[in-house]
Amino acid sequence: MKKILGGFCIILLLLTGFLLWNQFHNQTPNSVEEKNAYILKGYTEEEKNKIETLSPENQAYLLEEDYQSSILTYFETPNFDETKLKDYIHFSKLYGLSQDDIVFIVNHQYNDLEKYDVKTVALMHETYYIHEFLERYLNYSNIHPTEQIESVVANVNSNLDYAFYTQDYAVDFDKQYLILVNKYYKLSSDYTPSNLVTIASQYGRNLSLESTVYEQYQLMWNAAKKEGLTLYIRSPYRSYATQQRLYNNYVAQDGKVAADTYSARAGYSEHQTGLAFDVTSPTTNFDTFPNSKEFKWLLEHAHEYGFILRYPKGKEYITGYMYEPWHYRYVGVDAATIIHDTGLTFEEYYAYYVR
Ligand code: DAL
Ligand code: ZN
Repeated sequence: MKKILGGFCIILLLLTGFLLWNQFHNQTPNSVEEKNAYILKGYTEEEKNKIETLSPENQAYLLEEDYQSSILTYFETPNFDETKLKDYIHFSKLYGLSQDDIVFIVNHQYNDLEKYDVKTVALMHETYYIHEFLERYLNYSNIHPTEQIESVVANVNSNLDYAFYTQDYAVDFDKQYLILVNKYYKLSSDYTPSNLVTIASQYGRNLSLESTVYEQYQLMWNAAKKEGLTLYIRSPYRSYATQQRLYNNYVAQDGKVAADTYSARAGYSEHQTGLAFDVTSPTTNFDTFPNSKEFKWLLEHAHEYGFILRYPKGKEYITGYMYEPWHYRYVGVDAATIIHDTGLTFEEYYAYYVR
């Protein structure tokens, strides 16, 4: 009898052990069934393999959730923190944000997003939103509460949260034909472009221009000529000293406030780069040029040769200058085409695409 009872106890123990073992394994996401469960949810082998590097809690969580199509992107996102995975996925369901933005928001504990920080989310949805400017956007928006979110992004991207002539960032010459020179980016007084060439008299005044810009200008000039139009450069490269003399004359004539609306202070003029010029036709001046066929042709075709209308109408507050129908700047065909097609200023383009 004792033997039978003993045997029964052993069987009972083994059975209990098996049941416990079985249950434990069913809860562990690494069982065969669980691996298949990821596949059934729609995960690829690659995604499944990555998921299996996560903690058991996160693996179990992903099994409860619907298929996360961007799961792999999280692993590649800088500052991805596995312990915050639930929050990432939670926010990704609420807003159509990129993984970069979600990781940033959650890591920075903008956790009450649903309740009050709609502005952050709206900013992040803007086409030209730049991640590292978020704090500046928020500050600018607080100071200018009536400004549309789109303008907040455009203005901060253009550095308008700082006053003109207060920063003096050094011009970044690595950007080559895409260098930005404006009321924030300054050239030194001794900067002279290395490859200046003299303009032949049929194309404009016998002054100088950077060599590639001159070549592109000649192509454009010839194309216009085929349409019976003639372009004529009035003012191309200007040295620091020339710009200083010009600006000082304007100040003496109109006062500093007025001069600053149409003339750059020395060191801040694109003319010192050799990449910009003022152009009209031989028979028009700056006043009459906007009524010419040459002007209309340039508006349509200048970008095909890499040139942009640098100071457009309506964007004075960004460029810092009055509308200048005659001032063209070489940036290369790709950039010029985007700027032409989007209507961005070069300031906005530079922030988003170049910097
Ligand atoms: N007129 C342009 C802005 C210049 O002085 O460079
Ligand atoms: Zn000009």
